[in-house]
Amino acid sequence: MRAAVLHRPGTALTVEDVDIDDPGPGEVAVRVLAAGVCHSDLHYMNGDLNVRLPAVLGHEGAGIVERVGEGVTRIRPGDTVVTMWRPRCGDCEFCTTGRPALCAVGRVHATSGGLLDGTSRLNLNGEKVHHLMGVSCFAERCVVSERSLVAIDPTVPPEIAAITGCAVVTGAGTALNVMPDAAGDGVVVIGAGGVGLSAVMGLRLIGAHPIVAVDTVDAKLDKALELGATHTVNARTHDLADELARISPKPMRWSVDAVGAPHTLAQAIEVVGTGGTTVAVGLGKAGAVVPVPINPLVQQEKRLIGSLYGSANTPVDIPNLLDLFKAGRLPLDRLLGERYELAQVNEAYEALAQGATGRAVITPGGRP
Ligand SMILES: NC(=O)c1ccc[n+]([C@@H]2O[C@H](COP(=O)([O-])OP(=O)(O)OC[C@H]3O[C@@H](n4cnc5c(N)ncnc54)[C@H](O)[C@@H]3O)[C@@H](O)[C@H]2O)c1
Ligand SMILES: [Zn+2]
Ligand SMILES: [Zn+2]
Repeated sequence: MRAAVLHRPGTALTVEDVDIDDPGPGEVAVRVLAAGVCHSDLHYMNGDLNVRLPAVLGHEGAGIVERVGEGVTRIRPGDTVVTMWRPRCGDCEFCTTGRPALCAVGRVHATSGGLLDGTSRLNLNGEKVHHLMGVSCFAERCVVSERSLVAIDPTVPPEIAAITGCAVVTGAGTALNVMPDAAGDGVVVIGAGGVGLSAVMGLRLIGAHPIVAVDTVDAKLDKALELGATHTVNARTHDLADELARISPKPMRWSVDAVGAPHTLAQAIEVVGTGGTTVAVGLGKAGAVVPVPINPLVQQEKRLIGSLYGSANTPVDIPNLLDLFKAGRLPLDRLLGERYELAQVNEAYEALAQGATGRAVITPGGRP
């Protein structure tokens, strides 16, 4: 099958013929219909984050189940599924309290470059190729643990299903799970990419106000207005603090950093008012740090918290978000950007790096 392989950071992905094993016990073979162009893969491509190489990238996928391995009970051939990049053991302290993104097993497996047993099902010219986060969906097929999949309504378009597996559940989940009582609160979202725009949609759903989207690209800010932002600020041409003072006399109660750069996180901490909370969602270069001014943190009782995977109970929240889409409450179709064939994967990432608007999607099976 054709798959996009990263051999070395800083080099282009190569679309190659990769052999894929049959699903082992507890595993599932999926024909990939759509895979979202998430910035996290770009972090691995440019070496900001590390993954065992070579690896097939892609972690935001949707497809149809072709075959299931021994003992698989939750998923059946023919099911439409969304991939989850943090599989859950189901039994640990975090899994049993609705926080599967923090599952200890999921974390260990993410570093092995294999599936849950630590081994890979991907081979290139007789050598093992690693999985990215147990998914590797920039490929015509993937074999994943059944614990990395959630079955969904088959009438949902595959591109919508795919982006819900990372960008949407991360961004909207941040609003719904981390700030569920933010109705009427002012929120600043820094970064209007797939994740930030999804946060904007979630914030509109819960009635936050004002919702201020910040980016350096005007077209992304226009998209944010379309998806529910009430105000926008171009951080390249305007001073954010000045603009916020103009937008609302009330200080901002929340901020979300959906970029992951030290200066954007610092800015997110600075712009919340007394008693405000900053939610760090964007990922930075491994080892990146941000200086936090001590006294405002203490004297204004500011809070700084991280949120992984929308702090979501993903197997429950992903189908729920898709129900909200079907009910017309979450315009996920308007979040979609360009569609690319698998062979165009590098083009898709160049466009992402250059500021393309909306969540782009790769369609490994050709355009539906
Ligand atoms: N916490 C999680 O679980 C989780 C999940 C998915 C992605 N992420 C991370 O979230 C981040 C965003 O992901 P994405 O796919 O939306 O990326 P993206 O590239 O689509 O979006 C990033 C946005 O930030 C904007 N930006 C860059 N510099 C800026 C600045 N100085 N001020 C304002 N805006 C600026 C860009 O123009 C772009 O619109 C990435 O770091 C990604 O790795 C985290
Ligand atoms: Zn992602
Ligand atoms: Zn667990």
